[in-house]
Amino acid sequence: MDIKKPYIIVFEGIDGSGKSTQINIVYELLKEKNVKLLREPGSTEIGDRLRDILKSQKLDPKTQTFLIEASRTHMIEKHLKGFDGIVLLDRYIYSTIAYQGYGFGIDINFLKALNDFAVDIYKPDIVFLFDIEPRAALARLNREKDVFENIEFLEKVREGYLALAREYNFYILDASKTKDEITDFITSILRQHRIF
Ligand SMILES: Nc1ncnc2c1ncn2[C@@H]1O[C@H](COP(=O)(O)OP(=O)(O)OP(=O)(O)O)[C@@H](O)[C@H]1O
Ligand SMILES: [Mg+2]
Repeated sequence: MDIKKPYIIVFEGIDGSGKSTQINIVYELLKEKNVKLLREPGSTEIGDRLRDILKSQKLDPKTQTFLIEASRTHMIEKHLKGFDGIVLLDRYIYSTIAYQGYGFGIDINFLKALNDFAVDIYKPDIVFLFDIEPRAALARLNREKDVFENIEFLEKVREGYLALAREYNFYILDASKTKDEITDFITSILRQHRIF
């Protein structure tokens, strides 16, 4: 018997690159289908509490990693297991490698193994990388910046994402383009994959 498994579409990129903007648009376009919109960390009551902790204080990167992975496994239990629709995910396993690995220096191979353990069969089917200069992305966030949001740090995260994109065949999009241009790019890819 086939195990029920969702089709997982992931939106990755640095802070302010436009992920949430586009994922909400795509969610609206897919609303008639069996689709869930989730974000990491978060998407469950416990996950949202972990998100608040992670965003509000400067924790050491190992502790960050375990809290993020805990949010991840709990979300998978609550939302992905037994679901065979489409899941739109605002950040997923590559954020951990880019931020805690390339950004904070935790061993990349260890993080990959940890992610594999956490997600098991729930691997992404499509990954969009929103690529943009940190300066331009941060300029968009006219709110108080959280602990991850400074230019030098996000330069490392960006380079990490680009390395991952080559390794795992992400769709890289130029996130400095207009919202409409980016939506067109994403929908054309999703059409190729027969999501629409
Ligand atoms: N293509 C775009 N051009 C200009 N501004 C944009 C574009 N896309 C999004 N924005 C604006 O930039 C800001 C950040 O966008 P958004 O919240 O979608 O980024 P994000 O990647 O989800 O950031 P975070 O990782 O911090 O959640 C918002 O004010 C949004 O309206
Ligand atoms: Mg967002």
